[in-house]
Amino acid sequence: MTTGIYKIRQQLVAGVFVLMGAASIVSAEVPQKDRENPEGADVFLIFCAGCHGVDGFAAYPAAPSFSMGDRLHKDDSTLLRSILTGKGAMPPWEDKLPVSMLRNAIRYLRIMNERVKVGQSPRQQKLPTTMFLFQPTGERKPYWWQLDGEQ
Ligand code: HEC
Repeated sequence: MTTGIYKIRQQLVAGVFVLMGAASIVSAEVPQKDRENPEGADVFLIFCAGCHGVDGFAAYPAAPSFSMGDRLHKDDSTLLRSILTGKGAMPPWEDKLPVSMLRNAIRYLRIMNERVKVGQSPRQQKLPTTMFLFQPTGERKPYWWQLDGEQ
């Protein structure tokens, strides 16, 4: 039997696990702080990039493009609050990922923007082998899904 949540998830998620070839974009000038925050990149690429784009350019118009600096004038605690509670078409994350992971993801949003500002590629690490790809349904109601598919 499919649960209600599972049905919604089917609308939202176009292929839950998408295996992607590891496209390596390596620069000789990876800033030191990127190496200090590899987990931020992983969190973003695995859980957020389906909407916000693997290179920080939004995968659909409603989502901010962090590589362009969208929303990054807000401070970290404001961004964290939005992520935890959800905002517009973005679902709440407070029951899905620990705050420490979300804080690292926020640091990575700023790193992508800093790279673009100095003319670098926003992403300089490989794509993870497993990523969640989310699709907007175009509806105003909140999005919701469960990562493990069970209640
Ligand atoms: C289902 C698509 C989707 C996913 C997945 C998603 N977001 Fe978003 N996110 C959005 C949309 C759409 C907005 C714009 C919301 C608005 O202002 O209406 C947004 C806004 C934001 C903002 C700006 C908040 C503000 O206060 O302006 C941040 C920061 C953010 N997302 C971070 C993340 C992070 C980190 C993740 C992964 C843990 C994530 N998002 C996953 C769709 C998504």
